[in-house]
Amino acid sequence: VIRETAASAPGKVILSGEHFVVHGSYSVAAAINRRVHVRVREFQGPKPRIVLGDQVSTISSDDGSFPVVKTVARDILSMVTKTNQDSFEISITSDIPPGSGLGSSAAVSLACAGALADFMGLTLNKNELSDMAFRGESKVHGNPSGVDVQSCLNGGLILFKKNSQTEKISLRNSFCLLVVFSGKKRSTSKLVAKVAKRREEYPNQFKRMTESVSDISLEVVEAAKGRDMRRMGSLFTLIQSQLSWIGVSTLEIDMLIEDILGANGVLGAKITGAGGGGSIIAAIDQDSGDSTLKSVSQKYPYSFISDIPQEGLRWEKPAS
Ligand code: MEV
Repeated sequence: VIRETAASAPGKVILSGEHFVVHGSYSVAAAINRRVHVRVREFQGPKPRIVLGDQVSTISSDDGSFPVVKTVARDILSMVTKTNQDSFEISITSDIPPGSGLGSSAAVSLACAGALADFMGLTLNKNELSDMAFRGESKVHGNPSGVDVQSCLNGGLILFKKNSQTEKISLRNSFCLLVVFSGKKRSTSKLVAKVAKRREEYPNQFKRMTESVSDISLEVVEAAKGRDMRRMGSLFTLIQSQLSWIGVSTLEIDMLIEDILGANGVLGAKITGAGGGGSIIAAIDQDSGDSTLKSVSQKYPYSFISDIPQEGLRWEKPAS
């Protein structure tokens, strides 16, 4: 019998508070219905390896590939005895484009921690797994706030603040958002550094804006609870102007948002995540989602509508 374990985690969108959350504001994030799957199985080879499509590397090699997965895997291997380290393979499949701002690095980090810990017979609690995923994500992500990992871990809609307990918001009536990937990948760490510079240049304005973003995040929670999409849309529009001010929008993204705002049923749109490319989300009229998606997809093929799945990290039945 080949030993095998598997876990998956959802991607995420940030509804409010990206960037400012790194500097202490509240942020609101939601899981999306696109997931990363990680499978770990015994494998007859000289060294444990990682596979994603046609990309292959060993855990011990420092070739620059799979920085997140390698950090997590090495962390876990340091916790087990040598004999348990017989060769194995970590294989990754993902519905989330890397660099799209939809949480692929946090999701891969968590799913890998979950599947590999299970394979090694380690019982880690949610905090231990998220700490591990956070360290993995820090490898690619500069100075993460932790919101991405918490969102992918918990699923659903969360209210997050650095160094505070994450609050999962219960929704009597869930809702859907439109997600559009611009097709332009970007590096979160560069954008986070750019915002830190902006903060140095305008400390007073930045401080007030961070407070304002916190208040807006609490408003977004209220709009979500009341399924008030018009209110959510207008909050998105407001947040986009703040993100623009900190310099994480681009001409391309401004034009993308301009287009999307013209589509039938769209009530407001903003960058989601780090910006600089990546993805945008839009609040939409809940009754006309299909026709909105249809019109937007003509120009932006990587668009989808996501509800807010309640499940975060989960262990899967192995395939074989
Ligand atoms: C990225 O999804 C969100 C940022 O705020 C960075 C972070 O919070 O770690 C840009």
